[in-house]
Amino acid sequence: MTDRLSAIRQQYAAGLRDFLTGGGETALHHAYELGRDALNQGVGLLDMIALHHEALGALLRSTSIPQRTLEMTTSANLFLLESVSPFEMTHRGFRESNTLLHRLNQTLEEECKRIAHTLHDDAGQLLASVYLALDKAATNTPQSRGDLDQIKELLNQIESQVRRLSHELRPTILDDLGLLPALQFLCDGVAARSGLHIDIEGDSDLTLVPLLGTVLYRIVQESLTNVSRHARASWVQVVLQKEAQCIRCTIKDNGIGFDVPTVLNKAGKLGLGLIGMQERVNSVGGLLVILSSPDCGTEITVTIPSSSPPGGLHGV
Ligand SMILES: Nc1ncnc2c1ncn2[C@@H]1O[C@H](COP(=O)(O)OP(=O)(O)O)[C@@H](O)[C@H]1O
Ligand SMILES: [Mg+2]
Repeated sequence: MTDRLSAIRQQYAAGLRDFLTGGGETALHHAYELGRDALNQGVGLLDMIALHHEALGALLRSTSIPQRTLEMTTSANLFLLESVSPFEMTHRGFRESNTLLHRLNQTLEEECKRIAHTLHDDAGQLLASVYLALDKAATNTPQSRGDLDQIKELLNQIESQVRRLSHELRPTILDDLGLLPALQFLCDGVAARSGLHIDIEGDSDLTLVPLLGTVLYRIVQESLTNVSRHARASWVQVVLQKEAQCIRCTIKDNGIGFDVPTVLNKAGKLGLGLIGMQERVNSVGGLLVILSSPDCGTEITVTIPSSSPPGGLHGV
């Protein structure tokens, strides 16, 4: 048993004894504080229950009156409930934050859709009007045709960039061709913009329900954004693997890495990328593992069950 746990164990036994020998409200409040300390020190709920049984057992062995035994057990339950209430509150808090994050991800998904459409349709229409205006100007002032053609060429480049960004934001290719082609398209775009060398490999005939495809696409998208923003990497590898019961996706870079516990403890203060990923993975019953350390690069692995857990999926 660790030092932390044995200290809590002694305090718990003393607190319970105090409560059962008439400590009243003050002793009960002490149970709550004990539970909070235990939680902060990383003691688990099962450990708390085990040490309760241990402490109660020791106290019961020291009394020989059966009636007193029943009375003590009932009162001891109160003490236990009070000491585990901080665990319950934390659990509720976690569920509430997860629900909020889920809503945030849904809002982001809607926003992506809206921006993608605006980029594609509105910007496309505006550009079409500019082309017409340029043609008119070229007819009216034939001597400027050379300059106007150069402007048209630049506009062509802008148009293809805008189209690409709108498709990356809301990848219809995902629905039409599947996850691997959509990721290939995404990686080509990121590589062209960032100069990163991106290798992608995976099963081209992988078929997934649309929700799982979207979850994996968004995770790879955020991971690649993180690599180009933070990693100072030159190389990234994206691997998509189908296993018997699950799909595994790994995104690995050769960048500067980061201290995962420190960053996760500051989650929400830095950015929402990693915790948004975690929520997406939770919503489909999957597992997210982040391996990183300064100067050793970063490897993010997502494993999700390939069949949907009944009723366990939320739309994104
Ligand atoms: N691939 C990576 N390489 C180095 N650092 C990273 C990488 N991915 C994430 N990080 C670190 O984790 C932090 C949190 O990432 P994230 O939650 O996506 O928020 P944001 O990107 O908005 O800062 C980043 O600020 C960065 O310090
Ligand atoms: Mg980020």
